[in-house]
Amino acid sequence: MKKIYIVYPKSIGTIAPEIYGHFTEQLGGVFYDGLWVGKDSEVENIKGFRKFVIDKLKAINAPVIRWPGGCFAETYDWRDGIGKERPVRRNWWTPNDGRYENNAVGTHEFMDFCEAVGAKAYFAANLTSSTPLHICRWMDYCLSNENTTSLAAERKINGRADPFNIPYWGVGNENWGGGGNMSPAHYGNEYRRYATLMENTDNTAVLIACGPNGSDYKWSEEFCGTIVNSGVKINGLAMHYYCGSAGDALNFNKDEWYRMLAQANKMEEILLRHWHILQGFGMDNRVKLAIDEWGCWHPEGSGPSKGYNLFEQQSTVRDAVVTALTLNIFNNNCEKIMMANVAQLVNNLHCLFFASGGDSIVTPTYHVFDMFKEHQGGSAIQTAVTGNDEFNCSVSVSASRKNGYTTVTLANLSAETDMEISLESVGVNLQNTADMTVLYNEDMHAHNTFEHPDTVKPFTCAADISKPFIIPKTAVVSLKCKEC
Ligand code: AHR
Repeated sequence: MKKIYIVYPKSIGTIAPEIYGHFTEQLGGVFYDGLWVGKDSEVENIKGFRKFVIDKLKAINAPVIRWPGGCFAETYDWRDGIGKERPVRRNWWTPNDGRYENNAVGTHEFMDFCEAVGAKAYFAANLTSSTPLHICRWMDYCLSNENTTSLAAERKINGRADPFNIPYWGVGNENWGGGGNMSPAHYGNEYRRYATLMENTDNTAVLIACGPNGSDYKWSEEFCGTIVNSGVKINGLAMHYYCGSAGDALNFNKDEWYRMLAQANKMEEILLRHWHILQGFGMDNRVKLAIDEWGCWHPEGSGPSKGYNLFEQQSTVRDAVVTALTLNIFNNNCEKIMMANVAQLVNNLHCLFFASGGDSIVTPTYHVFDMFKEHQGGSAIQTAVTGNDEFNCSVSVSASRKNGYTTVTLANLSAETDMEISLESVGVNLQNTADMTVLYNEDMHAHNTFEHPDTVKPFTCAADISKPFIIPKTAVVSLKCKEC
């Protein structure tokens, strides 16, 4: 049996709701056929966006959505996506999938989507092939008050008098790779140029710099060294971390199950070391991590479009457990993280939805976001688990409190063994009966399809947490416990 101590005197910090954020790129089937069906579509929609997805995102309190990329941002000109005439362009992904961007979705449309969901917007600015002035003009167009600038007037002509609410601005994307293959010092100097003018355009904008690719600590060190004494504004350091190379999305064995989970578990060490670098430069009082792309990256072709949509991959029980493990790591390190964005929302890597034509379904990953949503804005409490020495036989856990309830989320990482759990709350008493939600399927390869949308879905029950209880192998569990 494992004992899980919830150590109430040890509060970690507040879990920013934005840690439960999303990422949407104009890539493959994310927008076209996925999110965007068009205003005249027979598919139920709100201002052209699939209503099913909007309703489901509202249900999980989706807090923030990043756009338009990813790599797409590196060749994106925001002027292509406003007004009546929308040019058709090659885009970053055209060499991969032969598709062209018709710019049907641009700034106004994306903001319609965010507003329908009730999510904040996080725009990724093109630092690779644009200029600081062009990005400042985008900010002017989006953020200037009515009756001030010519760009605000143009926005009004295009249907929007009031400024948009876009609090977060990314200064580039993956500039160590597709974003220009820059050295960290080169990027740091570019960052100084862009961020200075972006702050000058709107000094309330939250500016997020391109951070490392996973465990590239050299990037963080040299970038921080380049900007630390510059006086330039920086609020976030973006980090990307994908796990992969552990079998296929649907076909994997137990070794690959554990290999994938071990990679996901690395997230904690990686974010800690980048955090320590920020601390080393004395920047931790003004900069937090923004893990604005994370998830499993399986070989493509397993999703409903059978390879037509670039990077589309199925999502099984394994992806659900990776989701739970990752979100628990974020909760347990919430004081270091301002935001995280799972990549990507629909018909893509580690997605929450598949959607095409009249079909729309949620994936096991969606269910985990639903089961964890009570953590948003909660105060994270330290937990300690006995008997977690063997990774292959361990349980992942986090806890937070809000409004008189404690939420505890767990994932049994074992592909073989059910686990008996006893909860020990230290410093606060909990009522014996808690609401329990369990996501479980005996087949770790189980997944949802258009034909069978509910193969993996949670059930709820009342649980007596004063006694030990069982979490089945591969299961994700959430408990909502009333404090007394
Ligand atoms: O999410 C797919 C791609 O992965 C993004 O465009 C890029 O930023 C990352 O390499």
